[in-house]
Amino acid sequence: MHAPLLSFVGHSSLLQTVTLVNFRNYTHRTFDFHEPIVALVGDNGVGKTNVLEAISLFSSGRGLRSIKLSEMKMLQAAQAWVVSANFSLGGTPVPFGTALDYSPSGTERRLIRINQLPVKNQATLTEWLNIVWVTPSMARLFQEAGSIRRKFIDRMVMALNPSHTERLNRYEHYLRERSQLLRQGVQDDQWLASIEQRLSEDGVAISIARSQLVRQLTEAQSNDFSSPFPRFFAQMEGEIDQWYRDSTALDIEDKIRQGLRQSRPQDAITGGAAIGAHRSDLAVTHLGKHMPSALCSTGEQKMLLHAITLAFIRLLDSYRDRLTLLLLDDVVAHLDQDHRTYLFQEVQTILDKGANLQIFMTGTSAGEFANMGAVQIIQL
Ligand SMILES: Nc1ncnc2c1ncn2[C@@H]1O[C@H](COP(=O)(O)OP(=O)(O)OP(=O)(O)O)[C@@H](O)[C@H]1O
Ligand SMILES: [Mg+2]
Repeated sequence: MHAPLLSFVGHSSLLQTVTLVNFRNYTHRTFDFHEPIVALVGDNGVGKTNVLEAISLFSSGRGLRSIKLSEMKMLQAAQAWVVSANFSLGGTPVPFGTALDYSPSGTERRLIRINQLPVKNQATLTEWLNIVWVTPSMARLFQEAGSIRRKFIDRMVMALNPSHTERLNRYEHYLRERSQLLRQGVQDDQWLASIEQRLSEDGVAISIARSQLVRQLTEAQSNDFSSPFPRFFAQMEGEIDQWYRDSTALDIEDKIRQGLRQSRPQDAITGGAAIGAHRSDLAVTHLGKHMPSALCSTGEQKMLLHAITLAFIRLLDSYRDRLTLLLLDDVVAHLDQDHRTYLFQEVQTILDKGANLQIFMTGTSAGEFANMGAVQIIQL
């Protein structure tokens, strides 16, 4: 099922309600949203992040905490969790639902319905809407493994380019299949070559899409030197990313294919694949300090993350075909007044220009959102 082409005018796209059943600390609760900026406020442990997590399940994957689906079930509940939502997309109401389910063999899986119809492939969600989040644990982004930074970039790429989700899923599927064959000592050259062919084609498309997004983010930064957020330079770095400087995409596909063929014996031992898009990493430089992000202080790294998020918000101005939900968990509480005011102004400017964006934030008190214009405060 493909998302229909909806015409989006102003803020006619919104997440309007979300209902959590047996989800974490909620037995049954509905939240109504009617503004493009929503703040969930309340004491620690009241259930703010849980609401964001429930919303994040309308994107592919295991949500904002990236945790086992069964752990999201209310501990005391007998039945599985269900999260349902009503979106207005381009003025058209579209109901979404997702729930924990078990396959006949007992493995957990997630059911998804859009417009009452079951959806087999989670990637379909990206055709309808995008969800991107920033959580406190992401402040460590620049100290984590490269895979975490790739995921961070990939979520943003998906927001601008829905086919990225399916391509990534396919890429990971073929990576797994290849390493399984190699581990089992299967020497079927034709089979391996066809997998490597797909890996090189998808890998090139994936790395081009990532590099393009990272370049757009760098360019989308405000030229406003009064911004309290650091300026950054970002690019994807890796063996294949270097090749783009002097080779065409087709040449690079060939090189990856050859590289994979040569690395079969080594990959059979290590279990990975020595070359490909899964080996690229996001490199960010703090321009004010002329420092690579990994060497920046904890506070500087956090501000770099927010600067990238702000650039992404600005970038959304030119991508209005689908609604983007931006979930900012605990972000505002950790910003001083200057940064907060600037962030709010930027968000408001982008919304006023008609960006197809809805932002959900959490905080411990309504006061944290005092300077923000039309924010809907939900006290939990
Ligand atoms: N599976 C579960 N079953 C029941 N309760 C749960 C489950 N998982 C988490 N909780 C509870 O949900 C509560 C709310 O958690 P949540 O992380 O949403 O709080 P929060 O409002 O974001 O708090 P903070 O301000 O500290 O970030 C916690 O008290 C937690 O113990
Ligand atoms: Mg929280």
